[in-house]
Amino acid sequence: MVATVDPYLVEWLDLVFRWFHVIAGIVWIGTSFYFVALDSHLLPPEDERDRDRGVGGETWEIHGGGFYRVEKFRVAPHALPEPLHWFKWEAYWTWLSGFALFTVLYYLQPHTYLIDPSVAKLSSAEAIGASIGLLVAAWLVYDALCRTVAKRSEAAFAICMLALVTGTAYGVTHLFSARAAYLQVGAMLGTIMAANVFFVIIPAHRELIRAKEAGREPDPVANARGKQRSIHNNYFTLPVLFAMLSNHFSFTYGHSSSWAILVCLMVIGAWVRHYFNLRHRGRTLWWIPVTAALALAGVAVWIRPSSAPPLNPSSAHVSFAVAHVIVAQRCAVCHSARPTEPGFSAPPKGIAFDTPQEIKAQVQLILQQAVVQQTMPLGNLTHMTPAERATLGAWIRQGAKIP
Ligand code: HEC
Repeated sequence: MVATVDPYLVEWLDLVFRWFHVIAGIVWIGTSFYFVALDSHLLPPEDERDRDRGVGGETWEIHGGGFYRVEKFRVAPHALPEPLHWFKWEAYWTWLSGFALFTVLYYLQPHTYLIDPSVAKLSSAEAIGASIGLLVAAWLVYDALCRTVAKRSEAAFAICMLALVTGTAYGVTHLFSARAAYLQVGAMLGTIMAANVFFVIIPAHRELIRAKEAGREPDPVANARGKQRSIHNNYFTLPVLFAMLSNHFSFTYGHSSSWAILVCLMVIGAWVRHYFNLRHRGRTLWWIPVTAALALAGVAVWIRPSSAPPLNPSSAHVSFAVAHVIVAQRCAVCHSARPTEPGFSAPPKGIAFDTPQEIKAQVQLILQQAVVQQTMPLGNLTHMTPAERATLGAWIRQGAKIP
């Protein structure tokens, strides 16, 4: 499949979809933060007449050079307002652009990004089928939990979600390449969020409108469910954002316990969100950010790479000629001004290993990526052997001398 896609076109699709995805995501998450904070800021109306108009809460805000008076109705105003502004396309576009980006990178080039034969020997169809199937399954399981467990206890629901995310993280890190696994978990949570908007929140709003038009009382259950899902979405934002950014941090997904690291960082994200949600309701619990920072520091200490892993049993001298052959064979097919690996039109991250000087300039990164974390070669597409990693590591530790 790879050979049929022009790599230069893929680079542009990557740029356009990613740019779009980040923009839509900022708008969506901004809206989520804003409305949850707004709800927390509402106070009961001071004026009896406002209460009679159906107002349940009100607040003052100042922004961009002006005062704003915001009122929230307990159910709905007496007459349907016109125009009425909806908030849904930011969610739909975030999901659509994210799915497009994932498709271009991971589904069109599964052997480069999605599959790692040392993790699981999947065919392209199996890997793509599993990835899409898991996106759907995530929504079905989450939705079922909301309709059963969450009705009785939000705490029990939170524990179920933690178990679900942990199990998923463990499972997918044993199914896909390390970097794809993190994105898969992020995409599953992101799919739940978008599906919440599409299948629950917006239908609840439609029910409100239909009821008003028919002159009957709206179904309060639909409303409450919409509110619950919108709060869940709010707690998912920071965990998902980490998953989406994680590809920049190979020391996380490249670790042998990557699944546990992902769960820890996601929990810390949700914990921080909890701090802000309580704070907006007037309760500032200082120990939440403190414990979050301590937990982050704890993870950092835990996964710190040991400085000299026992990779090279013999300390025999390794010449540049030997190291050069390894880099040329295993790395420079992609990392070159003119890559020969299908699907690449430019050196990834601008890192090329065409000359001895270019190799020398990157030895610290090479050591980290190919010897310590072993996140390179990507998906081990070039079949680098452990012995070659050890040899390359020895050359670098012996001073990385070039002629
Ligand atoms: C199949 C193509 C491919 C091969 C082979 C490959 N890389 Fe990479 N490399 C990539 C891609 C793609 C990225 C960018 C990853 C990203 O966006 O996070 C990358 C990124 C890197 C980075 C930058 C990492 C960072 O986070 O800044 C280094 C260093 C690196 N590779 C080293 C190597 C070394 C050393 C080898 C050989 C042992 C190698 N690569 C083999 C595709 C490849």
